[in-house]
Amino acid sequence: MTAVRAPSLLAGSLDEFRRDRLGLFRRLSREGGAYAQLRIRRTQVLFLNDPELIGQVLGVRRDHFSKDYLRPLFNPLVRGSIEIADSDSWLHERKLAMPAFHARRLESYGTDMVDLTERMLAGWRPGEARDISADMSGLTLEIVAKTLYGIDASRYRGDARDAIAIVMEDFADRAGSLLALPVIIPNLRTLRFVRALYRLNKELNRMIRERRATGAEGPDLFEMLIRAKDEHGRPMSDRQVRDVSIAIFFAGHETTATLLSWTWHLLASHPDVEARLVEEFESVLGDNRPTYADMSRLPFAEMVLAEALRLYPPAYGFGRLCLRECQLEGLRVPAGAVTLMSPWAMHRDPRFYDDPDAFLPDRWADGLAKRLPRYAYFPFGGGPRMCLGSNFATLEATLVLATVLRKFRLRSLPGWRVEPQPSITLRPKGGLRMSVESGEAVRKSPALA
Ligand code: HEM
Repeated sequence: MTAVRAPSLLAGSLDEFRRDRLGLFRRLSREGGAYAQLRIRRTQVLFLNDPELIGQVLGVRRDHFSKDYLRPLFNPLVRGSIEIADSDSWLHERKLAMPAFHARRLESYGTDMVDLTERMLAGWRPGEARDISADMSGLTLEIVAKTLYGIDASRYRGDARDAIAIVMEDFADRAGSLLALPVIIPNLRTLRFVRALYRLNKELNRMIRERRATGAEGPDLFEMLIRAKDEHGRPMSDRQVRDVSIAIFFAGHETTATLLSWTWHLLASHPDVEARLVEEFESVLGDNRPTYADMSRLPFAEMVLAEALRLYPPAYGFGRLCLRECQLEGLRVPAGAVTLMSPWAMHRDPRFYDDPDAFLPDRWADGLAKRLPRYAYFPFGGGPRMCLGSNFATLEATLVLATVLRKFRLRSLPGWRVEPQPSITLRPKGGLRMSVESGEAVRKSPALA
C-alpha cells in the first residue's frame, strides 16, 4: 500500500462541497496525500484517496463502518425506503434478493430488456430531438419493474417519475447541509413529494395484495420477497416488501439510465468509437436480437461501457460512517467521522490512468483491469455491500445499446451544453437533448456520422 502521507489539512468547506462537489473531489485527490480532512458542519470527513484505504473501509474493516451516513440526506419520509437498511435485516434482505440476480435469471431478463427497448423505439422518429436521459430513465424503470416485479410500469411511469424526480431535488438541497439533519419543512415541494409517494405506495400495496391473493408461485424477485419467511416462520410485512421494492427501484434504474445517457453522449462525440461498436454488433449479431448468451462475444461493447463508467461513474461518491474508532494503516478514524470515497476522482487520477480525461475504450484492451489496484476502479463499490445489480446493469446497458444502434444513431444538438450534475447519481444537468438519426441513413452517408 501507499504509505499514509500527511493530509492536506481542512482542505475544503461546506460551501465548496455545495457549490462544486466534483471539483472539490478532484482537487482533494490532486492535492491531498492518501487522504484529506474536511470539516463539514460539525462532522469530520476523511476523503480517502488511496485504493488500499478504500479497500479497508469497504472490506477488511467494514464492521467498524455503517452506510447510514446518507440517511440524513433524504427526506425523513423515505429514509426507510431509499436503501436497504444497515442492520441485521440488510443481510436477510440481501440474501433474499440475491437469487434474482443469478446468471440463470439474467438470461431470461434479456428478452424483456430487448422487448421493452423495442417498444420505446417504436415511438422514435428520425429527425426529431429527444431528451435521451428521460427516455433512458423511463426505459430502465420499465425494465426493473418488468423483470424483477412482473409489472408493466408504462402504466405507472408518471407517478414513479414524479416521486423519483422530487426525491432527487430534495437530495440536492439536503446535500448542502450534509449530516445536519434538517427537520422536514412542509413546503410546496414536500407536499408534491408526499403526494407522489402516496400514489406510488398505494399502487405497490395494491400489487402486493394481489400477488398474495393469487398464491401463484412466480419466478421474480417480487414473489421471492412475498413468500419469504424469517427464522420464526413469519412472512415479510407488506410494508417491508414495499420498502425493499422501492429501494431496488431506486438503486436499479437511475444508475443504469445515467450510465446509458453518458454512453450516448460519449458515442456521439466519438464517431470512430461508435462506428467500431456498430461493426461489432453487426458482425456478432447479424440480424438476430441480442441476448445474454452474446455478452461474452462483445468485447468492444464491454470496453466502451467500462470506459463510460470510468469517466462518469453514476455513483460518483459514497461514504461510510465510522461507528467505532479504528486505525487504517496508521490513519486514526474516530467514531462519528465520515469516510468519503469518490470513483469520480479516483477514475480520473493520473497515477492510474494515462490521459485520464480522454474517452479511450482501448485502454481496457490489454488487461488494465487486472493491473490496477483493486480500488482504483470501483464503479460498483466493493466488499460485501458491492452492488447487487452490477451484472444486471451491464447486461441491460449492452442490450439497450445493441438494440438502439440497429435502428438509430444519436447526435449531439448544436448549442446543447452537457455537464454532469452531482445529485444522487451523476446525471447530465438539465437532461440530454439529442437528435435521432436513422441508422440506415448514417450507413449510406458516412459523412453524416
Ligand atoms: C450502472 C449501474 C449501477 C451502478 C453504477 C451501481 C452502483 C452501485 C454502488 C456503487 C453501490 C454500493 C454503494 C455503497 O457501497 O455505498 C450499489 C449498491 C446497490 N446496488 Fe447498484 N449500481 C448500478 C445498478 C444497479 C441495478 C441495476 C440494481 C438492481 C436492479 C442495483 C442494486 C443495488 C443494490 C440493491 C445495492 C445495495 C447493496 C447492499 O447494500 O448490499 N444496482 N450500486
